[in-house]
Amino acid sequence: MKIMITGAAGFIGSNLTAALLQRGHTVIGLDNLSQGFLLNMESFQNHKKFRFVEGDIRDEKLLLRVTRGCDVVVHLAAFKIPRYSDAMDTLLINSHGTLAVLEAAAKHGAKVVAASTSDVYGKNPKVPFSEESDLVIGRPEVKRWSYAISKMFEEQLMFAYHERHGMNIVALRFFGGYGPNQHMTWWGGPQSVFINAAIDNEAIPLHGDGMQTRSFTYISDHVNGIVATIEKSEANNQVFNIGNTREITIKDLASIIWRLVRSDEPKILLTPYETFGKYEDVMRRVPDITKARNLLGFEPKIDLEDGLKTTIRWQIGRRLALGTPTPNLKLNFAEAAE
Ligand SMILES: NC(=O)c1ccc[n+]([C@@H]2O[C@H](COP(=O)([O-])OP(=O)(O)OC[C@H]3O[C@@H](n4cnc5c(N)ncnc54)[C@H](O)[C@@H]3O)[C@@H](O)[C@H]2O)c1
Repeated sequence: MKIMITGAAGFIGSNLTAALLQRGHTVIGLDNLSQGFLLNMESFQNHKKFRFVEGDIRDEKLLLRVTRGCDVVVHLAAFKIPRYSDAMDTLLINSHGTLAVLEAAAKHGAKVVAASTSDVYGKNPKVPFSEESDLVIGRPEVKRWSYAISKMFEEQLMFAYHERHGMNIVALRFFGGYGPNQHMTWWGGPQSVFINAAIDNEAIPLHGDGMQTRSFTYISDHVNGIVATIEKSEANNQVFNIGNTREITIKDLASIIWRLVRSDEPKILLTPYETFGKYEDVMRRVPDITKARNLLGFEPKIDLEDGLKTTIRWQIGRRLALGTPTPNLKLNFAEAAE
């Protein structure tokens, strides 16, 4: 197949591109490099079935041009964390970008597989979340919800395009991805920040008391889920949770990471929620993946500890490649497993 990927220089996009090229597909990668890196695409940049286009998802003419002849568009480019700019960027980049992607795909008859997020379940206290669960979002004054709302709009817009144009769409709600090529700040997730803190022997910053839970999914599992939805028609016109079902507190995640990197007691710094201004956290987040399991054969395979070992080794390597001062650590594990 010929597949266009928005956000190809990002974390999920670069790993997905590598996997699709390996499966013999042709890939056009689009990215404006606002949060992605050319370094992420190094392993396939000269692949004969890959082409990179630097550009913005809101550029409608460009989208029409790069989508021509594509069987599938995988839409991953997004503004993920409002506090790295503001709610305006989050709402408008994500909504205008998705509109341009869907419009181009509709014109060329391409299927669209797009990244939504587990954040759409918001404050719903009933875990695990199935695709049927209610989406419970907080007040508009709390800008963290702008991200979830932009993705809810995206999901609705996809079904609206399906209804009006008959095109195939798939919405994927990802749960906590981690692994090689992740962004090394909060943009990449808490594990990125915790790994850096442990490497630098600095206290790991936890929001609130650290008892909020998340589910962390190794990147190869995310990629397997996306590949299945691209290749299988059973996925068409559905929403899927794609994630690992192991629930873990953020505090336990911090301890595991510290003990993999260092031999002393974990250093932890609790940051009260009040320091974020108007903020609401999600206290529990864990997916029910029965639907993806039954329709797609999706099954996460990588244990958290194994995935973290590979990720820690990768993060040390990336820091060294970027010239970031990095102590020569004797890690508390022999092999990175995958
Ligand atoms: N990583 C996760 O665990 C996770 C969880 C839930 C949802 N998601 C969703 O999955 C998608 C991919 O996430 P990721 O972690 O790979 O993020 P990422 O930031 O690493 O990758 C996104 C890429 O999109 C590019 N981009 C951003 N705005 C753009 C624009 N206007 N035009 C063109 N390119 C643009 C960035 O430069 C970046 O390379 C996102 O839509 C995100 O919301 C990810």
